[in-house]
Amino acid sequence: MAQEIRFFQLNNGAKIPSVGLGTWQSDPGLVGKAVEAAIRVGYCHIDCAQIYDNEKEIGAVLKKLFDEGVVKREDLWITSKLWNTDHAPEDVPVALDRTLRDLKLDYVDLYLIHWPAAMKKDSKGFVPENLVQPDIPSTWRAMEALYDSGKARAIGVSNFSSKKLGDLLDVARIPPAVNQVECHPSWQQDKLQAFCKSRCVHLSGYSPLGSPGTAWLKSDVLKHPVLTMIAEKLGKTPAQVALRWGLQKGHSVLPKSTNEARIKENFDVFNWSIPDDLFAKFSEIQQARLIRGTTFVHKTYGAYRTLEELWDGEI
Ligand code: A2P
Repeated sequence: MAQEIRFFQLNNGAKIPSVGLGTWQSDPGLVGKAVEAAIRVGYCHIDCAQIYDNEKEIGAVLKKLFDEGVVKREDLWITSKLWNTDHAPEDVPVALDRTLRDLKLDYVDLYLIHWPAAMKKDSKGFVPENLVQPDIPSTWRAMEALYDSGKARAIGVSNFSSKKLGDLLDVARIPPAVNQVECHPSWQQDKLQAFCKSRCVHLSGYSPLGSPGTAWLKSDVLKHPVLTMIAEKLGKTPAQVALRWGLQKGHSVLPKSTNEARIKENFDVFNWSIPDDLFAKFSEIQQARLIRGTTFVHKTYGAYRTLEELWDGEI
């Protein structure tokens, strides 16, 4: 009998549901329907962010589902993220309040610093001139205040290397509960995963399918022969195999879909497992980061001159 792996326990005692619906690049007009379909299928975790520009539509649907009694707030896990323009300590609570207003919630279950990169307040667009020097310890103190207030029931980071996470752990009063990073069979993050485990930080994987719909990434993670072979052997789809691999590795997975059939497919990962001999095959997959964060690297502006500096060599 397969272990279901429905939740992971965080360092503050909270339990994060292991499969969350991703909403990055979920289009307006579709994202609300996707959230509703997901919740009706049984998802209890929705991964949001202010910069995805769709939190208002998600909030309207959540309110409708609460009003109709389809789900209770306390049975859902909602994550959101602080955008790079709001790193100044005085801007952090204002940003969360905006997200709470948009999502029509009193609290989020998890609030993350979206990137270890900062941009000018109110700036729009990804131009190098908007990049400024981050001050993560100061931003983190403001995140800790949100945790103290109860508006964020857990706090964490996203896109942090082992080095940046370690530096934060050295100064944090409340240790980050989660580091949400790109993670899938073609970018397994073994070093970061081991570091997170050793410091009791949960690793949550975004783009767990390798973002096949993102044209500029040219991703073929789901087409890898190891995945297709295992999928065929187990009678599952490559997407399900990629997600179940994540669960068995010990990370939560955040597949994005706005297609009802695929939303269902991506949630059918609990009552079966990848046996050890097939699980071992994942080590044969060549590794490459897809989301490189080049927009946060510049020879003059911001904190990072090279990708090496942004990822501290984990590239
Ligand atoms: P769609 O929204 O049309 O379903 P990731 O979560 O790794 O970023 O991947 C998201 C992309 O993968 C989206 O383009 C999504 O398209 C697609 N996708 C989601 N679920 C599946 C699936 N089960 N099989 C194939 N592609 C999928």
